[in-house]
Amino acid sequence: MEIIRSVNWMREKARNARAEQRIIGLVPTMGALHAGHIALVQQARNECSPVYASIFLNPKQFGADEDLAKYPRPLETDVEKLTAANADGLFLPDAADIYPSGFSTYVHVEGLGDRVEGKARPGHFRGVCTVVLKLLQIVQPHFAYFGRKDAQQARIIQQMAGDLNLDTEIVVCPIVREPDGLALSSRNAFLNPEERKAATILYQALLAARQELSAGTRDSQDLQRVIRQAIAGEPLANMDYAEIVDAETFEPVIRVAKRSYIVLAVRVGKTRLIDNLLIEPVGTDLRVEL
Ligand code: PAJ
Repeated sequence: MEIIRSVNWMREKARNARAEQRIIGLVPTMGALHAGHIALVQQARNECSPVYASIFLNPKQFGADEDLAKYPRPLETDVEKLTAANADGLFLPDAADIYPSGFSTYVHVEGLGDRVEGKARPGHFRGVCTVVLKLLQIVQPHFAYFGRKDAQQARIIQQMAGDLNLDTEIVVCPIVREPDGLALSSRNAFLNPEERKAATILYQALLAARQELSAGTRDSQDLQRVIRQAIAGEPLANMDYAEIVDAETFEPVIRVAKRSYIVLAVRVGKTRLIDNLLIEPVGTDLRVEL
């Protein structure tokens, strides 16, 4: 697998692939790759050729008090995993090439970008959208793959792609979980063994909400109460938010009726984890996806 370190070289390669009428897939990541990332590469592999993954630890999406400095950077094993997944190339730009001095243009998706996770992490989605737009401009893929693990991020990127008439289809892929339900995340590496056990509380809380939904509960406050109780039962966990939101706007819903997410952010020790559950109306019933 080829490693492409310069923006110009990446542009050139992608331009050539397009000129040959090939279908380009891009999987943007920040590295420390796990099976959730690799599932995106595999889906891209099924639908595109060439498939590029990018690894760029984007400083502009981390707050001053966040974990940028200690974010894991296991480049060698990342390269092995991408090679095993049969990716054609890894775009590995450095920060000076992405943000040269004088860089001053940012993308902000109003409304959607300010709610829930955007409210909890001011400036986060502005950093995400800015770098994702740059990656999409450099590679100009036909398809770009994102995980539903970060449901609001995926929704915001879809909004940006529509608003700015990007020629890339944004594909959202299912959440990959550990056998005990914990959603895979690069940040799980920060958990000590005790915290790792406690971290299943996010999934447990979502299961409790699913149970409540299948018993007929539709009221958001009732669903939130069940989640809050579950998380309060785990001494190592502190809830940041649990919200039931419209899947399009990420505005809170009072009663679940339309396509919605239950979105969850919980601190386990010092590590902040997020997870979600998708609710889709099917006829008069609701289908729940974890
Ligand atoms: P990162 O956290 O590395 O995630 C890269 C992609 O993998 C995202 O689309 C994320 O939703 C997806 N992903 C992570 N864990 C997953 C899981 N358990 N199941 C399925 N998909 C999963 O998200 C980012 O990087 C950055 O914000 C980025 C989009 C690269 C912009 O910097």
